Amino acid sequence: MHTQIAIDGPVASGKTVVGKILSEQLGWRFLDTGLMYRAITWMALHKQIDASDHLALENLAINSQIELVASSEGDRLFINQNDITDDLRSRSIEATVSFISQISGVRTALILKQREIASSGSIVMVGRDIGTRVLKYAGIKVFLTASTDERAKRRFSQALEINPDTTLKIVKTDLERRDLIDSQNKESPLLPADDSVIINTDNMEIDEVVQKIMQLLITK
Ligand code: DC
Repeated sequence: MHTQIAIDGPVASGKTVVGKILSEQLGWRFLDTGLMYRAITWMALHKQIDASDHLALENLAINSQIELVASSEGDRLFINQNDITDDLRSRSIEATVSFISQISGVRTALILKQREIASSGSIVMVGRDIGTRVLKYAGIKVFLTASTDERAKRRFSQALEINPDTTLKIVKTDLERRDLIDSQNKESPLLPADDSVIINTDNMEIDEVVQKIMQLLITK
C-alpha cells in the first residue's frame, strides 16, 4: 500500500529540506508543490499574461506540462520542455507567485496534477494545503512552524546567493508580506489540518525534525 506524508508550513519553516531528507531516507518520491506554482508563474511572466487574467492562467495551468527530471546536480524542473530550474527563485517570480497561487482555477488544475503524481507510489509532499486539501487522507500530516526571526535568518543566506545586496531586514519584511498573503488565501488559507502534528522547529536541528517525523511513521 502507498503511504503519504504531507508536510505544510509557512515560508522557510524547513519543510522542503526536511521533506527531501525524509524522502531520501525512505526511498520515496518527493514533491515540493511550491515549485509547481512557481513554474506556472514563470510561464505567465514569459507569456506576459496579466495576473488578473484568471481564465488565461487557469488554462495555462491545465495545459502546461510540468516535469521534474533527476540529474547528478539535483532535480531539474521543466515546463513545456523549458528548463527553468535556475529561475524559480528569481525576484520576479517571488514578487508574483503569491498572487497567481490564489487563483481558484490555477489551484484546482495543480491539485489534480499533484494527486495524480501521488497516486503512483509512496511520497513525501510539501506545500501549504497538502494536509488540508491535496492529500486529505495522508497517513502522516505534519505542520512545521518557526518564529519569524528564525525563518528570516534561515532564508537570508539563501537570499544572499541570489542577491548579494539584500539585508536581513529586507528578507524579514518580504517574509512577513508573503505570510500575510498566504494566510489570507481564501481558497486554501495556510492552516494546519485538524489531524496534523504541529512541530515548532525553533531551536531544532534539521535531523531532529526528520527523526521526529520518522518516529510518527513508526508509531502510527
Ligand atoms: O513554498 P514556496 O515558497 O516555493 O511557494 C511558492 C508560493 O506558492 C507561495 O506563495 C505559496 C504558494 N503555494 C501554495 O499556495 N500552495 C502550495 N501547496 C504550495 C505553495
